[in-house]
Amino acid sequence: MIDREMVSVSVKDNRLAHCSEQSKIKQVMHEYEGILKDKLTEKRYVHALAVCNCASELAGIHGLNRRQAELAGLFHDYARDLPADELLRIGRAKELVTHEIEQQCPLLLHGPVGAALIEEELGIHAPQVLEAVAMHTLAGPAMGRIAQIVYIADLTATGRDFPLVDYLRTLSQTSLEQALLECIASTISHCLEKRQLIHPQSIEAWNYYSQELKGVE
Ligand SMILES: [Fe+2]
Ligand SMILES: [Fe+2]
Repeated sequence: MIDREMVSVSVKDNRLAHCSEQSKIKQVMHEYEGILKDKLTEKRYVHALAVCNCASELAGIHGLNRRQAELAGLFHDYARDLPADELLRIGRAKELVTHEIEQQCPLLLHGPVGAALIEEELGIHAPQVLEAVAMHTLAGPAMGRIAQIVYIADLTATGRDFPLVDYLRTLSQTSLEQALLECIASTISHCLEKRQLIHPQSIEAWNYYSQELKGVE
């Protein structure tokens, strides 16, 4: 039986002082991994573990809550293997459909649907974790730090292989802001190359973070 209360407390508390608590959390994560394994294909499950590890590492480097990063990384693709009609059905029922593109490509809903399901089915309520799962595909303006690192980790975790991946990995160690912007650019470029539709939320994200970065420079 998963002690959800304990996890929800620990994700709010960055200072995991006691070894016994650490080992309980390890056990809960292990049980969560078991649940996820039943939801995903083997390949996707391996990817989820890789994103969990990458998000954890980035959280450590940038001084963020590792537990939240690990949970969000682990569950970011929770709904990824649901059939398209099921994603659309749940998305409509929970009023998660925000644009007609999602009706044409229900796969775009697997983030928001996944966030709704991990809250409902697993009792995970940490807003940072839910936001990260919901936003990991499209990104969006003003994302929290955990959502940012999960978006980056999804693209740069072990197993990802595309021309810019090493550059993005290195960048993510030094500047989250720049890495996020370059990851969004890379995703939009990929969509353009494939002549796919681009969701306005991703364009809004690009505009938001490129303006924000200009303000920093
Ligand atoms: Fe995904
Ligand atoms: Fe993913």
